Formats: sequence, structure tokens, C-alpha cells
Amino acid sequence: MSIILVLHDWVRWLIMVFALLTVLTAFTGLLKNSPYTKFANISNLLFMIGMDIQVVFGFILYFNNGWFDILKHIGSFMGQTMPRFFGLEHWLMMIIAWVLVHSGRTVVKRVVTPHEKYKKTLIYFGIALLIILIAIPWPFRTALGRPWIRWF
Ligand code: HEM
Repeated sequence: MSIILVLHDWVRWLIMVFALLTVLTAFTGLLKNSPYTKFANISNLLFMIGMDIQVVFGFILYFNNGWFDILKHIGSFMGQTMPRFFGLEHWLMMIIAWVLVHSGRTVVKRVVTPHEKYKKTLIYFGIALLIILIAIPWPFRTALGRPWIRWF
């Protein structure tokens, strides 16, 4: 499963790029009161596609690497940072972010004015990005940190 772990690691960076582009575009669009652009639409679409891919890779890792077995006995693991994080917290927060990204796309499509579109983008995708940033096992996270980039 190490190829899936490497892919799960790399797709994280694609998501970071498109999530930041989505939020920055919405922020400047709101400030400048500019029309809703194709770029704004494509960057949040690619953010969403990245999340879809990541959910699939993530659950493959989850069931293959024993994290689901940890969930089954989560009561006895609650005091241990790493099993609690990968057994429960990581996927739960990422699923919440995934729901926000999907509902964000729907809501942004529904509203009409560029101002509303940028505002909703900022709310839905911005909150999703915050949750993702909290839920990533960054190298500086004590007891659960993973590398910045994985090659094997
Ligand atoms: C519901 C969706 C997700 C599930 C079920 C999931 C599951 C997992 C699991 C089980 C691991 C540990 C793999 C192992 O070493 O055994 C992991 C690691 C990781 N996940 Fe997720 N994940 C999800 C979404 C995401 C998302 C959206 C991101 C980033 C945007 C992300 C970023 C990472 C990173 C950076 C690692 C560490 C990879 C490494 O060790 O190189 N995950 N994930």
C-alpha cells in the first residue's frame, strides 16, 4: 500500500494549491467587486476533485493499515495520540471538510451575483481549508507528525 500512501501524500499538496487559490481568488474578488471568473470556478472544482481522490485513497489506507481495527477498540486508544488521530480524528475532520467543499460547489452555483458567489466560496471553502489544515499530520505535530513529502 506504500504507493497509495505516497499518492495520498502528494495529492495533499495539490489540494493545498487549489484550496489557497480558491480562497485568495474569492477574497480579492470580493474586495475588488470583480465579475465571477472561469478561473474561480476551475480552482474550486479542482479543489473538490482533489478531495474526492483523497477520500478514496484515504479509506484504502484506513482499511488496509489497521486503523479501522483501532476504531473498533477506540475506547482503549483515546489516551494515545497517534491511534486516536488516524483511527478517528483525521478521517472525521476530512469528511466534514469534504461535505463542506461539495455543498460549497452547489451553493455557489445556485447564487447569482458575483458578490454572493465569492462570499459563499469564502465561507464554505475557507472553513473547509481551515479544517484540512488542522487535520493534516504536519511534521511539527508532536507524536503524529509525518514528513513534508514522501518518496517511498
Ligand atoms: C476521509 C478522507 C481521508 C481518510 C479516510 C484518510 C486516511 C488516512 C490514513 C489512514 C492515513 C495514515 C496512513 C498510514 O500511514 O497508515 C492518512 C495519512 C495522511 N493523510 Fe489522510 N485521509 C483522508 C483525507 C485526507 C485529506 C483530504 C488530506 C489532505 C488534504 C490528507 C492528508 C494526509 C497526509 C498528509 C497523511 C500522511 C501521509 C504520509 O505519511 O506521508 N488526508 N490519511
